[in-house]
Amino acid sequence: MKITIIHGQNHKGSTYHLAHSLAEKIGGNITEFFLPKDFGEFCVGCTACFMDSENKCPHYEKLSPITRAMDEADVIILASPVYVMHASGAMKAFLDHYGYRFMVHRPEERMFSKQGVVISTAAGSGTKGANKDMADSLFWWGVGKVYKHGTAVFETSWERVSEKKKQSEDKKLSALAQKIKARNGRVKPGIKTKMFFGVMRIMQKNGFNKADMDHWKAKGWTEKNRPWKKNGFMIIEIEYYKGDILLLGKRRSQDQLQKELEEVEKIYNKNEDNFIEFLCKKYVWVMIDKTENPEYTYDRDIGKLVANKY
Ligand SMILES: Cc1cc2nc3c(=O)[nH]c(=O)nc-3n(C[C@H](O)[C@H](O)[C@H](O)COP(=O)(O)O)c2cc1C
Repeated sequence: MKITIIHGQNHKGSTYHLAHSLAEKIGGNITEFFLPKDFGEFCVGCTACFMDSENKCPHYEKLSPITRAMDEADVIILASPVYVMHASGAMKAFLDHYGYRFMVHRPEERMFSKQGVVISTAAGSGTKGANKDMADSLFWWGVGKVYKHGTAVFETSWERVSEKKKQSEDKKLSALAQKIKARNGRVKPGIKTKMFFGVMRIMQKNGFNKADMDHWKAKGWTEKNRPWKKNGFMIIEIEYYKGDILLLGKRRSQDQLQKELEEVEKIYNKNEDNFIEFLCKKYVWVMIDKTENPEYTYDRDIGKLVANKY
């Protein structure tokens, strides 16, 4: 599984240890960003992202590696220490840059099949407020399933947090990791998300912002398409010397797909050059002619599978 952690602080204290430990328990590829070290800009309030395009944001380039890592992740973890009853300013400044992705504007389709976790630690109180600060964004981005984990560590330094507390956190995070692993690849948003999506859909039919309306129309969301319905199937592209071939199959995670491709690369009959036929037969894919853009492209020459961004 792919996990992207956004740490709302630069240092490795209590919040870092809990967030990192959860990611390790889930297992897979972990990508981490620290705020403000990796992104420390404040939204300038130009509204170019809302009214025109996110790539008109003056911080677009700086934000891109984090956006990409979140879009490609199966699980997004937002973690922050409690500062004056809320998430850190660095975390808030970061989240402000994704207002254009709120369901009311232009949500990213892949969010609806992801899991998100918010984690906060306090010396005493405030985790509820801090977690809400972060969970609100995940919800409005459309993230399919959101978990909240907040804890009072009764200390300001991880080194001084009691062993008993560390052990009890370890237990809770193990249980959470199990839940997340069990749900991977089968995420469907809840009724609240679907309800808000339905309201936004009606609004976008006769919207007032062209950029948003175009997005909803292009996705087919003002018609019958829904971002979570694609969950059942996926389209991939195989590139090799014979050309580009599009395949339609049941949805699986990127890791699973990578494993299947590697497996077929090992066992297909090289004399008959039957990689595609073998892949289709073994893992139930069908060749299709034309379609929307494929979600992943696999380049056989270099054996690399990449998630496409459109
Ligand atoms: C600026 C600042 C504000 C804080 N505000 C609160 C607060 O409102 N409530 C609280 O219980 N702890 C507060 N704390 C303490 C931290 O939230 C707490 O020690 C947390 O576990 C630190 O996490 P870290 O080790 O990841 O930095 C504050 C700490 C700082 C530096």
